[in-house]
Amino acid sequence: MSTLPKTLTLDTSTSRANPTPQPMKRLTVPRIRQRKGGGEPLVMLTAYTVRQAQLLDPHCDMLLVGDSLAQVIYGLPHTVAVTMEMMALHGAAVVRGSYHAAVIVDMPFGSYEASPEQAFANASRLLKETGAAAVKVEGGKVLAPTIEFLTQRGIPVMGHVGLTPQAVNILGGYGVRGKSDEEARTIVEDAVAVAQAGAFSIVIEGVLESIAIEITGKVACPTIGIGASAQCDGQVLVTDDMLGMFERVPKFVKRYQDMAGVIDGAVKEYAQQVRSRSFPTDDQIYKG
Ligand code: KIV
Repeated sequence: MSTLPKTLTLDTSTSRANPTPQPMKRLTVPRIRQRKGGGEPLVMLTAYTVRQAQLLDPHCDMLLVGDSLAQVIYGLPHTVAVTMEMMALHGAAVVRGSYHAAVIVDMPFGSYEASPEQAFANASRLLKETGAAAVKVEGGKVLAPTIEFLTQRGIPVMGHVGLTPQAVNILGGYGVRGKSDEEARTIVEDAVAVAQAGAFSIVIEGVLESIAIEITGKVACPTIGIGASAQCDGQVLVTDDMLGMFERVPKFVKRYQDMAGVIDGAVKEYAQQVRSRSFPTDDQIYKG
């Protein structure tokens, strides 16, 4: 028996234009910023669809429409091929399915690196078409002028340093970053530059723990760790990873469920019942 509150009933007539099923206020970027340091850590998960957003929303402070949808939804080898259209459509679905969490949408590779003006055109499109609160960009010092440009023009930006998956073709893979002193120093400097440029929070991904702790101590905005440190101001995981939808479990992922196993069991039973004609029964049949 489900214990889900009534807010989670899938109601296709409910949209952002209508009142929320239960009155509640969505978390804002300034309120997230205020959560820096020591208090209750920020909870973030990725979300890509309306139903997933509905289920995650009551428990999360932020929902990230990550470009990890490349692998999770589209079966692509990496995030480089993700388009603005994908991010806009999935972002809008997640906003429609959530009422409490702040929704942040990843800017896809190639949509913000060329110039601050290019970034503004694409980030403003994402905010207009999705209703999300903010965008996320990957990169360090080189992106600081762009982050400043966006934040000064009304677009809140979440940074992302350390392992930056959009740079997979430069990095050559997804190994942990910051093993050499020089690389560690660069990652810390990147995070400081991103924070000083006005980012309201920073994802730190796939770095040695000491680097995440140093950044968290140095920057004025909340840090959100993934493969980083419990001392970050918050944590994020790819939802499908933590729910056990995939066989591969990276070191930084904790599997909280075996959803792949649950689905396999249910579908196996359905297939057996169809083949043995024990589904449908009279309960599922309309009789005159
Ligand atoms: O795309 C994504 O899901 C992300 C998180 C892993 C931080 O960027």
